[in-house]
Amino acid sequence: MSDRPHYGIDAPPLPFVLGAAGAACALAALRLPAARTPLALAGAVLLAGAGVYFHTTLRGKFRVWDEILDGTGLRGDERLLDMGCGRGAVLIAAARRLPRGRAVGVDLWSFDQSGNRPDATLANAAAAGVADRVEVQTGDMTALPFPDASFDVVTSAMAIHNIPSAEGRRHALDEAVRVLRPGGRLVIADPAPFTRRYAAHLGQGTPRGLGPRYWYSGPWVAASLLRAVKS
Ligand SMILES: C[S@@+](CC[C@H](N)C(=O)[O-])C[C@H]1O[C@@H](n2cnc3c(N)ncnc32)[C@H](O)[C@@H]1O
Repeated sequence: MSDRPHYGIDAPPLPFVLGAAGAACALAALRLPAARTPLALAGAVLLAGAGVYFHTTLRGKFRVWDEILDGTGLRGDERLLDMGCGRGAVLIAAARRLPRGRAVGVDLWSFDQSGNRPDATLANAAAAGVADRVEVQTGDMTALPFPDASFDVVTSAMAIHNIPSAEGRRHALDEAVRVLRPGGRLVIADPAPFTRRYAAHLGQGTPRGLGPRYWYSGPWVAASLLRAVKS
């Protein structure tokens, strides 16, 4: 077993496609003097986008979530649900802050993260030393397999927007609220246009941008944070 967690790459083909397209543009710029400037510019933007993407998925999002969770004011004994937990980037960061609590992840294990499997998440929890307080369940966040009011906090990172329909995304939000106890907190990171719609559906919260450390290639796919409280 690996001695440290490995969290994979989000939407794995994308940064490689960006990098390959950037390299192709750079090579073409060398061979086509007539179009050198636009090709070189396109190559630079695409290669920089691939670099930003890799930084976000391998490092930046972890730093951002450390700050988000530190700013969530956890006591350490909460039950937290991470919807679309994947290999556990947020689930395990939360579990580290819940020495007397429980961190539960739910996911369908899609290809939206490389090596996405429940045993990979549990191996990461073991490598991080939090296996005793982490569990994962296979399930759809639009129909959560948990009773009403069974969590103090629900988190979700770059997952709800993957649900193809607006109706499905609203179901996921309603499910998050259903499983929260009154006064429980909802903490969602998703691309900005989505979090604005979530705030409108929930009737509360003001999304805020999370900065370049959470850009998937550039500001055109920027994560933003929405916090809400169940009344
Ligand atoms: C980009 S990954 C993010 C994983 C993790 N939250 C992170 O930040 O590293 C999106 C995750 O959402 C999951 N997902 C997508 N739709 C889902 C659904 N309807 N129910 C549960 N999980 C879902 C995918 O399987 C994938 O693991």
